[in-house]
Amino acid sequence: MKTVIYPGSFDPITNGHIDIIGRASKLCDKVIVAVLKNPSKTPMFTVEERVNIINKVIEPYENVFVDSFSGLLVDYAKKNGATGIIKGLRAVSDFEYELQMALMNQKLCPEIETIFLMASTKNSFLSSSLIKEVARFGGSIEGLVPESVLKAIYNKL
Ligand code: PNS
Repeated sequence: MKTVIYPGSFDPITNGHIDIIGRASKLCDKVIVAVLKNPSKTPMFTVEERVNIINKVIEPYENVFVDSFSGLLVDYAKKNGATGIIKGLRAVSDFEYELQMALMNQKLCPEIETIFLMASTKNSFLSSSLIKEVARFGGSIEGLVPESVLKAIYNKL
């Protein structure tokens, strides 16, 4: 039974994240989407709202679950019996920070592997922050997030 953690802020989840979730669910027995409780950020959605939004979106995937965590990712991974951390890579700009995190996590817990999946071309420009910015200024974000997320964003605004 191979369990992996897909961690992030997911404020909110985008089609890019969902693409990674779908592909990870085919590679692994169990995928836990783990929303970080980060008090130093001012998010659009509370952790509970993000978990609820993700719960709806992952309905089609039988082996995907959602949870929230605080503290070190590797501690959360160990507690859940995970052997891998899934990360999506969009462009070279993601690489430096992701490499730094992967190596720190490797130092903290060598038994847990970080596995990178390349974002699909159509999603490689997507980010939660850009989506929120475009929506705030009245631009169209249709096709970039699922319908339920689109509604949640418009409700917030
Ligand atoms: O979606 P994000 O904000 O890029 O996700 C960042 C996340 C949650 C993967 C990262 O901040 C994280 O793992 N935080 C948990 C705290 C931790 O373990 N820090 C050391 C990692 S090197």
